Amino acid sequence: MCGIVGYIGGRTAWPIIVGGLQRLEYRGYDSAGIAVVDDGQIRINKCRGKVSDLRSLVRGQNISGTIGIGHTRWATHGEPNDINAHPHMSMNGKFVVVHNGIIENYRTIKAQLEQKGYAFRSQTDTEVLANLIENIYLEKQISPESAIKAALSISVGAYGLGIICTDQPDRLFAARKGSPLAVGIGQGEYFIASDATPIVEYTDQLVYLEDEQVAVMTTDGISITDLKDTPFDPIITNVDFGTEGIDKGGFDHFMLKEIYEQPNSLADTMRGRIIEQTGTINLSGINEIMPKLVGVNRIIIVACGTSYHAGLVGEYLFEQFARINVEVEYASEFRYRDPIISPEDVVIAISQSGETADTLAAIRLAKQKGATILGICNVVGSSIARETHAGMYTHAGPEIGVASTKAFTSQVVALTMMAILLGRKRGILDDKTYNELTTELRRTPELISEVLKDNDHIREVSRAYQLAQNAIYLGRGYLYPVALEGALKLKEISYIHAEGYPAAEMKHGPIALIDNCMPVFALATHDKHYDKILSNIQEVKARKGQVIAIVSRGDTEIARIADYVIEIPECHEALMPMIAVVPLQLISYHIAVMRGCNVDQPRNLAKSVTVE
Ligand code: F6R
Repeated sequence: MCGIVGYIGGRTAWPIIVGGLQRLEYRGYDSAGIAVVDDGQIRINKCRGKVSDLRSLVRGQNISGTIGIGHTRWATHGEPNDINAHPHMSMNGKFVVVHNGIIENYRTIKAQLEQKGYAFRSQTDTEVLANLIENIYLEKQISPESAIKAALSISVGAYGLGIICTDQPDRLFAARKGSPLAVGIGQGEYFIASDATPIVEYTDQLVYLEDEQVAVMTTDGISITDLKDTPFDPIITNVDFGTEGIDKGGFDHFMLKEIYEQPNSLADTMRGRIIEQTGTINLSGINEIMPKLVGVNRIIIVACGTSYHAGLVGEYLFEQFARINVEVEYASEFRYRDPIISPEDVVIAISQSGETADTLAAIRLAKQKGATILGICNVVGSSIARETHAGMYTHAGPEIGVASTKAFTSQVVALTMMAILLGRKRGILDDKTYNELTTELRRTPELISEVLKDNDHIREVSRAYQLAQNAIYLGRGYLYPVALEGALKLKEISYIHAEGYPAAEMKHGPIALIDNCMPVFALATHDKHYDKILSNIQEVKARKGQVIAIVSRGDTEIARIADYVIEIPECHEALMPMIAVVPLQLISYHIAVMRGCNVDQPRNLAKSVTVE
C-alpha cells in the first residue's frame, strides 16, 4: 500500500526521503513523489513508475532544502499517472499533502469546494483534502495547525498524513487515523514514515501516533495533540532491528532471504516462551486472560490471506490439543455478516502487519460485542496489536517480500504454543504428551534447515513447471491449509492460476481439470491420511496428471508413481505445516524467478492492505 516518508532537520532532505521511499517499495506502489521546501519555495517532483525514476528526476536539480515529504502511491482513486501521484498541492499553493488511506466523504467535500470556486487537477481524494485544509485556513484566518485539525474533524475515513504549509515553512505536520504513522526522533531532527523501515537507519526511537493525533515538528521539538487540542506526551518505543533486518543480506530477493530466515524466525517466536530447562510453555502476553481462555467454549479466528491460512491450522490445533470449538473467518466477511458474538467468546486476530483494514474492523466489531480479543501480530506497536486485550508478537523480524513466508510459520508456531498450553491447562494433554510436543516443537527450526538444504533439487523440480498455466494443490488434515497456502504463493508471485483443495474434494469437481498438462502438488507425508492421499494421487495419475509429491523422507511407495518427489523430514503431524510449507514457498519462488516475475513486488499487490 501507499508509503509516506518525511524529514525535518539539518540535512538535505531529498536523499533521506527518496532513500526512505526505496525502503518502502516492498509495500507495493505505482507512482512516487516528493515535495521539499527549498529557499522558501515548495518544489514538487512526482512521476508514475519506480522510486528510481523519481530519483533520476530529482538528482541534479540542486534541491538543498531540509524539510520535505514523499510518497509512494498505490492507486485507489484515479489511475496511476503523474498527476494523481502525491504530493498534492492546494489550489492557492498554501498546503502540500501526502496521504495514505481513503477520505470516504471526499465527493461531498469536493462538490462544496467546487461551489466556492476550487478547481481540481487530479482525481484523488487527497487533493480534495489539501484544498479543504486551505479553504478553512483562508476563510477562518486560523493557524495552519488549526486548519488541519478542523479539516480532519469533518473528513470521514482513514488517513496517515504528511503536510507542509508554505506560510510556516519551518514546520512538518503529521496526522493519523486508521493508517499507521511513525515519528522517528533524532538529534534536532524528525522523520515520519508509514512504518519503521525508512527510519531505523537514523534512529531507534519511535513514536507511533494514535488515531486522531496530530504531530507538529520543528528542529526545536515536537508537539502531539488530538483534534480537540488535548496535548499528549510522546510515548517512545525502542525498535529492536537495524538496517540489517531490512537488507537482502546477499540473497537475490527478500522473499528468498525470508524463506531462509525461517529456522531463526521460528526460534525467535519460541524464544523465552518455551523454557529451556523445563520444556514448559509460558506465554506472558496472554497470562492475564488465562482464566478466561481456560474456560472458553468457542474461539473465533479472524484474518486475511496467508494469515487466514495460519488461522486454519490453528483450528486443527485448538480442536486436537485443547478440545475447543474454533471458527476461522475471513475478516472481510465476518465484519459485514452481523456475526453472533458474545462476551464469552475469544476472538484471535492474526496479522503480520497488524494494519490490515478488514482484520482491524473485525476486532473492533467483536470488541463492541464484548468479546475478549487476542492478537498475533508481527509488527510491534501496530494498530491491531494496540487494540487487542492481550496477545503475542511473533518476533519474526521485518517481512519485506510482499509474499508472506516467515510470518506464516511464525504465526503457526505461536498458535501451536497457545493450543498446547491451553490443552495442558484444560487437563486434556497429559505430562508425557505435553513434554513430547514441546520437545518436538523445539526441533522445528532444525527440520526447516534440513528442507532448505534440498533447495537445488527443489529448483530443478520447479523448472519442469515454469510454463504451467494452472496448478492444483492437495492436502488433508493439517496439510489442507498448507495446500491453500502453496496455491496462494504460486498465484501471487508467478501469476499461474492455482487452486488448493482438501484432497478428498477433488473428485467432487476439480478432477475434471486433470489432464497431462495439469501439475498437482500433493502433500503426502506419513500421517493418518497417508493411504487416502495415496489413492488421490493414483486418481490423478490415472488421468495422466503430473504429480509432484511432498513426502516423508525415505518414502518409496509414492516415489514409484509420482513424477517428482520432494522429501522432507518426519515430525509430529500437528507440526508438519511449518515444515511442509517450505518446499512450496521455494517452488513458487523459483517458478516466479524463471518466469521473470517481480518476486518481491508482484503486480497489483500491496504488503500492508490498509484499505478494505
Ligand atoms: C500473501 C499475503 C497476504 C497477507 C494478507 C494479510 O502472501 O501476504 O495474503 O497475508 O494481506 O496481511 P496481514 O497478515 O498483514 O494482516
